Amino acid sequence: MAESTPVSESRVVVRPWHRRRDRAVINRWPPYTPALPAHWVATSATERHERVSYAVELRSDRALVGRIGLQMYALTGAYLGIALHPAHLGNGLGREALHLISQLGPRIGLSVLRLDVADENTRAIRCYQRAGFVEVGAIWRNGYRYLDMVRAL
Ligand SMILES: CC(C)(COP(=O)(O)OP(=O)(O)OC[C@H]1O[C@@H](n2cnc3c(N)ncnc32)[C@H](O)[C@@H]1OP(=O)(O)O)[C@@H](O)C(=O)NCCC(=O)NCCS
Repeated sequence: MAESTPVSESRVVVRPWHRRRDRAVINRWPPYTPALPAHWVATSATERHERVSYAVELRSDRALVGRIGLQMYALTGAYLGIALHPAHLGNGLGREALHLISQLGPRIGLSVLRLDVADENTRAIRCYQRAGFVEVGAIWRNGYRYLDMVRAL
């Protein structure tokens, strides 16, 4: 059974992505160490649908620490992708950012968030479970197994 842990005081804020400025910043992020397997971050959903992105900033100094992408599918659903700055993994920021995105979703007409995640990406899976996502199935893509997870908003 998935847990959805409420975030009382978030250390992050989520704001619309600024394409040029934010891209320039993340281009200077250090690489993940160890490197992430390429299939962990491969996009899955079709590229035909509208995509919106959000920046995740630290509330304390407004440093850009993450990016969240939402790719719309059907009328009120979106596939979610998230990546944090390599120096900020495993500190709960992902869960906090997902909590904020879940609050924002209904305001942009979303009723469900969906994602797939490589089944060996245990840190991400744990984060998603803590943010209220539940596993509804699994798919195989390019020889890798991914969990299909959803969160109703
Ligand atoms: C996936 C990601 C957004 C999660 O954000 P995060 O801030 O690192 O995650 P959180 O700290 O909120 O939660 C991680 C959970 O896994 C646990 N964890 C941390 N490191 C772990 C590891 N190496 N293996 C397994 N679990 C781990 C944490 O203890 C935490 O669980 P808890 O809340 O029960 O203590 C972030 O790690 C990331 O950007 N990873 C690189 C890109 C990526 O994999 N994106 C997802 C593609 S689907």
